[in-house]
Amino acid sequence: MLKNHSNLNKPAYYHNTMASPILLAFAVLAFTSFVLASDPSPLQDFCVALNDTKLDGVFVNGKFCKDPKLATANDFFFSGLRMQGNTSNQLGSMVTPANVDQIPGLNTLGISLVRIDYAPYGLNPPHTHPRATEALVVLEGTLSVGFVTSNPDNRLITKVLYQGDVFVFPEGLIHFQFNIGKTKAVAFAGLSSQNPGVITIAKSVFGSNPPISDDVLAKAFQIDKKMVDYLQAQFWTNN
Ligand SMILES: *[C@@H]1O[C@H](CO)[C@@H](O)[C@H](O)[C@H]1NC(C)=O
Ligand SMILES: *[C@@H]1O[C@H](CO)[C@@H](O)[C@H](O)[C@H]1NC(C)=O
Repeated sequence: MLKNHSNLNKPAYYHNTMASPILLAFAVLAFTSFVLASDPSPLQDFCVALNDTKLDGVFVNGKFCKDPKLATANDFFFSGLRMQGNTSNQLGSMVTPANVDQIPGLNTLGISLVRIDYAPYGLNPPHTHPRATEALVVLEGTLSVGFVTSNPDNRLITKVLYQGDVFVFPEGLIHFQFNIGKTKAVAFAGLSSQNPGVITIAKSVFGSNPPISDDVLAKAFQIDKKMVDYLQAQFWTNN
């Protein structure tokens, strides 16, 4: 209290000289978090991924790369998004990825894609990507989409999207897409990582292997253990 008071009595230039290192620190912090918002930048033209299992005890953050002289067009190519995904499952949706596991040439490049097909009333259920922001574009159909901000607000930010519309799901936030039309829907999305990762909320919590104790889940979800056991007995898909 006393300290604050004495600071208030200092001349204005004193506050300015004190504020600038703090502002600088914030600017550096903001810049750092901007730089870390997607995969780190590559140090060469490309680094086509190789699966090398020969080196025991060494773990690479990413993938080994091929000698650039041996790279071919097919290292940068994938035809797997031509086909409609099979939506015959309990969610009525299918995500087909095109990340570094499908396109080795994406290694170190900080970007990937998915195609999402939705049956009428199909759902891509609440999930997060731990390493990527997502920009989704609707090619066909009508989707109700949303994401939830982190604690303590947990604000739902939601929108109905039509053909050609784009929506952004910020990195790490729980989001979903629901086909509210009577026809099938198709969306593509770009993600700011070669390996965005997916955590499907219901599947991770109720379908973990081995299961989380029902004491934990009953208390966490404010439901009884019978309900937990019922949920844990369901089949959870990856979507
Ligand atoms: C789609 O998936 C279902 C369930 O797995 C399967 O029975 C069906 O044969 C698949 N359809 C096609 C066209 O692959
Ligand atoms: C490399 O390994 C991953 C994970 O085991 C696998 O999904 C992928 O298909 C493999 N890629 C190649 C080119 O063998």
